[in-house]
Amino acid sequence: MASLQTLSSTISRLNLLQRSSFNYSLTSLKLLKFYEQRIIRPARSPLSFSTLSNRSSTFKPIKMSSKDDLIVLGIETSCDDTAAAVVRGSGEILSQVVSSQADLLVQYGGVAPKMAEEAHSQAIDPVVQEALDKANLTERDLSAVAVTIGPGLSLCLRVGVQKARNIASRFNLPVVGVHHMEAHALVARLIERELQFPFLALLISGGHNLLVLAHNLGQYTQLGTTIDDAIGEAFDKTAKWLGLDLRRSGGPAVEKLALEGDSQAVKFSTPMKQHKDCNFSYAGLKTQVRLAIESRNIDATIPISSASSQDRNSRADIAASFQRVAVLHLEERCQRAIEWALKIEPSIKHLVVSGGVASNKYVRARLDQVVRKNSLQLVCPPPSLCTDNGVMVAWTGIEHFCVGRYDPPPSVIEPEDFVYDLRPRWPLGEEYAEGRSEARSLRTARIHPSLTSLIQASMQQQS
Ligand code: KG4
Ligand code: ZN
Repeated sequence: MASLQTLSSTISRLNLLQRSSFNYSLTSLKLLKFYEQRIIRPARSPLSFSTLSNRSSTFKPIKMSSKDDLIVLGIETSCDDTAAAVVRGSGEILSQVVSSQADLLVQYGGVAPKMAEEAHSQAIDPVVQEALDKANLTERDLSAVAVTIGPGLSLCLRVGVQKARNIASRFNLPVVGVHHMEAHALVARLIERELQFPFLALLISGGHNLLVLAHNLGQYTQLGTTIDDAIGEAFDKTAKWLGLDLRRSGGPAVEKLALEGDSQAVKFSTPMKQHKDCNFSYAGLKTQVRLAIESRNIDATIPISSASSQDRNSRADIAASFQRVAVLHLEERCQRAIEWALKIEPSIKHLVVSGGVASNKYVRARLDQVVRKNSLQLVCPPPSLCTDNGVMVAWTGIEHFCVGRYDPPPSVIEPEDFVYDLRPRWPLGEEYAEGRSEARSLRTARIHPSLTSLIQASMQQQS
């Protein structure tokens, strides 16, 4: 029941917003706020972000001189970083603040949800305040608040959503609920203004390994995903088992050590060679790495900084060999995805590579070669925009806000026990039939309808 209510409220929200997007030209933010004050009604359902279906009949066109006038605060707390940023509709980044939970990661060897929630709760107020201060603004200057509502850890998402809605309620601001993986993809459009839909995107992070065809804003076809672990998880475990310094997360540590090693020294096999699809698997490679470490008697309790030079070389060879094969798997899948994507959308010109692992220089260089071979262009955001950040959330909020997809300000400050619309397991797009994996079908229980299906349903209701 709860999920049905959530779904219908979402559809009703997207409904109205779709309609508004085409007819409305916006004139000024002040006018927008004036409008919102006059017409927005209090939310009734605690599960819903809004009662927009009631609003549609009274919602009138708003005018605003340009998208550039928008100023949006973006909040991100889906995993282990507490991040906030203020971004203009023009794409100008006014501020960006990230508070990482590096110490906790070192202590627990990964993200522990309860600890992460606690850390977010402590960091959220100062992080948002710093983002506003650095932008030289107050909440009163904002046009909207964008916040990640999924996928991610519920306990963590909740901290960001609560903060966003609290600000929105106090300052009468619309709220845009953002899909974390869409944000990783769309931030590429902030840095590369030539990047038009449709495009292909490889999104690689600690929890996700996605190949998606972006047809339009909010409309994606999933060409491939991981059947077990994501590449970032494999980098993190490799770093941990090699006794590396995890304070900047495992990926950068493996990348750095790999520079010293021989990438052909350890013969790891490339995953899923026999599967002619675009899905990924990193669990087997992780096991291969663990076995290689054990067979060389590497003791992870001895930090790399104290290892003998022979031991260090041995660890470096494993790091380099792991990285080569992990990335080769990406290369092979991207080559196939490009072929599929060109069949579906022959006009694509770009491959976007984003998410934390896209900060890796070796990943970028290898994928650049794949892309060039296919006469496409690689778009890879700078590292600070590849790892989790508030800019990507603010920017995705701006993109959706401009087509009218947003919720009205919450009418009251919501109580501590308020049930928020959070989507811990929320696919971005519908699976491409050729890419469907039987291995994964067992894991699809209790997931939220995809962003794409919600938007499509709302568009169908319109017509
Ligand atoms: O996107 P992100 O910041 O958070 C998630 O949504 O998961 O990605 C974090 C992941 C971690 O697994 C981290 O080790 C990996 O990105 N990462 C890297 C590099 N920088 C971050 N992996 C390989 N090389 C890097 N330079
Ligand atoms: Zn991420």
